Amino acid sequence: MPSLLRIDASPRQTKSLTRMLSNQFLSAWKSTGVGLEVMPRDVGLHPPAAISESWIDAAFTSEDARSAAQIAQLESSEVFIDEVQRADLILIATPMYNYGMPAALKAWIDQVVRINKTFSFDLARGDRPLEPTLDGKTLVLLTASGEFGFGPGELNGDAGHLVPHIRTVSKYLGAGDLRHIGIEYQEFGDDRFEKSKTEAIANVEALSAQLAERHR
Ligand SMILES: Cc1cc2nc3c(=O)[nH]c(=O)nc-3n(C[C@H](O)[C@H](O)[C@H](O)COP(=O)(O)O)c2cc1C
Repeated sequence: MPSLLRIDASPRQTKSLTRMLSNQFLSAWKSTGVGLEVMPRDVGLHPPAAISESWIDAAFTSEDARSAAQIAQLESSEVFIDEVQRADLILIATPMYNYGMPAALKAWIDQVVRINKTFSFDLARGDRPLEPTLDGKTLVLLTASGEFGFGPGELNGDAGHLVPHIRTVSKYLGAGDLRHIGIEYQEFGDDRFEKSKTEAIANVEALSAQLAERHR
């Protein structure tokens, strides 16, 4: 049975558009009848700790030389990385905050993208010494923003740091295949918002059905 790591990054529970989209994705999958193991990781409600100097020291100490305190420092990171490793699909549902990702999601990424775990580092590779160690996963990225037009060449294209940032780090999550669907115009609350929401829901349902078919 395929497994899906579900990451919700909105701190809102009742009014969240991104949680609505991630729920929609999973209910559309369920209606296909294809089995799915879901691993929930709610960073919006339970933000991971920001990494610290002692965390960095532990991560850069070789595994067999780590002290008990260093092992304890990396405990959450180990759990998060294990979830990423086990996932066939990763679903990230995240708001745009200040033109990028919320701090809680960034904290999760900082805990997951780790030397000798999700990437290797070798200066013999020249000017691109990092290489991802995971692959073969699909990343479903569901977003919501108050403003609109964050794509290349669009009205706010220069300010769109959410999707490009996640696209850049997605290779360290093992996801070469990224599918993005977003709701825009939330702060306008007008017809454009309603249209954007309706289209996003339809696209999420279609994507979910398409990805489920791959695992039938
Ligand atoms: C703290 C905060 C910062 C935000 N920053 C932006 C922003 O930079 N650009 C934008 O278009 N919308 C911004 N928004 C609007 C949110 O992206 C929008 O409300 C979205 O629906 C939130 O996701 P959620 O509904 O899942 O909670 C911000 C909202 C909050 C609360």
